[in-house]
Amino acid sequence: MKELRKFDKVVNLAKTRGFIFPSSDIYGGLNSIYDYGPLGTELKNNLKKAWFDFMLARRDVVGLDSAILMHPQIWKASGHLDGFSDPLVDCKKCKSRFRADHLLEKKGIKPTFGKDNTPNMSDVKCPECGGELTEVRQFNLMFKTFMGPLEDSANQIYLRPETAQGIYVNFLNVLNSLRLKIPFGIAQIGKAFRNEITPGNFIFRMREFEQMEMQYFVHPDKTKDAFEKWQNLRMDWYKSLGIDPKNLRFREHAKDELAHYAKKALDIEYNFAFSENETFKELEGIHHRGDWDLSQHQKYSQQKLTVKDENNKEYIPNVIETSGGVDRATLAFLMEAYTEIDGGRTTTTESSKEKEVVLKLDKRLAPIKIAIFPLSKKTDLMAKAIEIYDSLATKYRLTYDETGSIGKRYRRQDEIGTPYCVTVDFDTLGNNLVTVRDRDTMKQDHINISELAAYFQEKFK
Ligand code: GAP
Repeated sequence: MKELRKFDKVVNLAKTRGFIFPSSDIYGGLNSIYDYGPLGTELKNNLKKAWFDFMLARRDVVGLDSAILMHPQIWKASGHLDGFSDPLVDCKKCKSRFRADHLLEKKGIKPTFGKDNTPNMSDVKCPECGGELTEVRQFNLMFKTFMGPLEDSANQIYLRPETAQGIYVNFLNVLNSLRLKIPFGIAQIGKAFRNEITPGNFIFRMREFEQMEMQYFVHPDKTKDAFEKWQNLRMDWYKSLGIDPKNLRFREHAKDELAHYAKKALDIEYNFAFSENETFKELEGIHHRGDWDLSQHQKYSQQKLTVKDENNKEYIPNVIETSGGVDRATLAFLMEAYTEIDGGRTTTTESSKEKEVVLKLDKRLAPIKIAIFPLSKKTDLMAKAIEIYDSLATKYRLTYDETGSIGKRYRRQDEIGTPYCVTVDFDTLGNNLVTVRDRDTMKQDHINISELAAYFQEKFK
């Protein structure tokens, strides 16, 4: 039987171990929408906290949580209403739908779609059945809905396709209320929605997803330094949480790839290894957006969005954006952490010959920090284990497990990335010592219960 790819194994583990489920699963799922299960919620929350803490640790970055629904004019000003579309073709025979630019790229043709520019697709056939394709149509990716009881165009609004616009339209509020001076950044995490034509690769490209974005407002003369600073900081963040540098790289966008307003853009890519041909893919973008966004909002809102320099000269700040996907980062950390050990790591258990899976997540990201086991289901051992659980539960996310052999329980925790397991055995009742086992080294420490809190404080500092 053909060995599964690592990516498929991670998808499988995510579902069977409670990280990520297809949305509306009992109804057959909803295409490219996913729910985070109990462990996925913890992992994602830890990741978002790590991002927010990292960004706000800079003295010049503040946070924001803007609404998903916004004034529809915002999308006119930002260019999303007119330009946020993908070129789409359908197969006339099998009805499959494709991104025209992707089909051209596969044929080695550089696609340049524009308002007045549609490349010739007559030589391109359906990759599924060889059928003839329709003309290229531009398909806007924004989800529409209506506000209020009347479903007419006057009440049409959109689910935001990026969180960034919520930051731009709050620029003035944040600047004035906190009396900030340029340069400063506004960071926020939130849901975004895109009616993607070809979603896929699990949580890599979804229709409902989360972004973690920061817009850094800076004087036009200082953009080069700001860009370099943020590209390095963001790359370091992924490395600091355990991604091997060899699986990360920068990819600078060529001039003809840039959005019309962008001065420079580069992606931080991760080696997702979806297939032999699909290895490094975008994880996060660093963009020099010039003064496009604030200028547009100034024009459409008729509100002055300028600041003054030291010579009292007014200008519109430029923006360096860091724009990452929470879900893509979650997938990257899961892929990176997934480790198989052939033949197992322990030789004394009944399943020692089996392949063992260890999810080597950074401790800060691990959904469960500590597992507590009584060696057996004896009442006094269980009571002691629960006492320990209760004493640590306000500080750490814990789990309690009393079923199966200790070896099996260790392996269940290894699979979900729990860094430490604490076992209460018969000796504990006499000498108050528990065994703490480390996920990665399998080293066992014997710790007095009275010192457990201090022990873990050191481990998780
Ligand atoms: N504000 C700029 C912006 O939204 P983007 O490159 O379109 O830029 C930024 O998106 C990041 O959001 C991407 O690098 C990716 O991590 C994430 N992202 C974009 N579309 C996504 C989708 N359909 N599913 C999951 N993540 C997505």
